[in-house]
Amino acid sequence: MKFSTWQPLNNGLELSPEIAHVIRIRLDLAREQWSPLIELLSDEERARATRFRFDDPRRQFVICRATLKQILGTAYGVAPNALSFQYGSRGKPELSLQDLNSSVPQIEFNVSHSGTIGLIAISVGAPVGIDVEEFDPTVKFLQLAERFFAPLEASELKSLPPEKQLHGFYRCWTCKEAYIKAKGDGLSLSLSSFCVAIDPDQPASLCHVDGQPDEPIQWTTQSLNIGENHAAAVMVRRPDCRIALWDWPVT
Ligand SMILES: CC(C)(COP(=O)(O)OP(=O)(O)OC[C@H]1O[C@@H](n2cnc3c(N)ncnc32)[C@H](O)[C@@H]1OP(=O)(O)O)[C@@H](O)C(=O)NCCC(=O)NCCS
Repeated sequence: MKFSTWQPLNNGLELSPEIAHVIRIRLDLAREQWSPLIELLSDEERARATRFRFDDPRRQFVICRATLKQILGTAYGVAPNALSFQYGSRGKPELSLQDLNSSVPQIEFNVSHSGTIGLIAISVGAPVGIDVEEFDPTVKFLQLAERFFAPLEASELKSLPPEKQLHGFYRCWTCKEAYIKAKGDGLSLSLSSFCVAIDPDQPASLCHVDGQPDEPIQWTTQSLNIGENHAAAVMVRRPDCRIALWDWPVT
């Protein structure tokens, strides 16, 4: 199996604690392509889809949630609409495990969507978080970094050559968001209480967590190459976890 490039996902995922999977999903589908996926949603999920005021977030939610249910359904050997979710205190969805095949190892997952791309991360027995962001060339990134990043991150960003700073900002943003999402704490975890590597030409990593010197070595961090207009990162709470990259087939 190759781990560095995106491969078409033709079969089920190999479920092993040593491997985390990232599935890339195209969200730029025409309505007739994605609307059949609504069939895979529960009544509650359909009601949520209906409540979106705009088509873009509705399409993102329906495609990602239906794809997630297909992936997890295949793993547990059940129909996608037999799956249900519960939510952590900060809104992180988790599988309700009742009625599922207990011989399948416990799967953890996380979802992110931005612009035309959705990503789903799957791991076995280890918290996982993922984030994708579409570049916004108008964003005042140095001001945002000053305000939200740790002081060391903000100063490292400013010291990058100007042509690398936008990528450095999104490298930092996506890694920080992936960590927060893996922990499930939302923004109750202060963005300045931990540091990630900034330089977009260096490997991504968690460098420091306030008051927890052993925390960074517990994590595998990987930035994902998903095209010119997006940045993305995945974090798994398992050292030296391999990351397999898959493209979900377009129907
Ligand atoms: C909700 C949050 C988890 C992510 O929000 P986001 O970046 O706008 O959205 P993403 O597309 O990456 O992720 C949304 C998905 O994360 C999942 N999610 C929701 N709450 C979550 C939580 N507490 N923890 C982990 N995952 C969560 C859901 O699956 C959701 O998708 P769905 O509703 O379609 O199922 C939260 O961290 C947040 O509000 N972040 C604010 C962004 C920000 O200011 N970041 C600064 C970084 S420097």
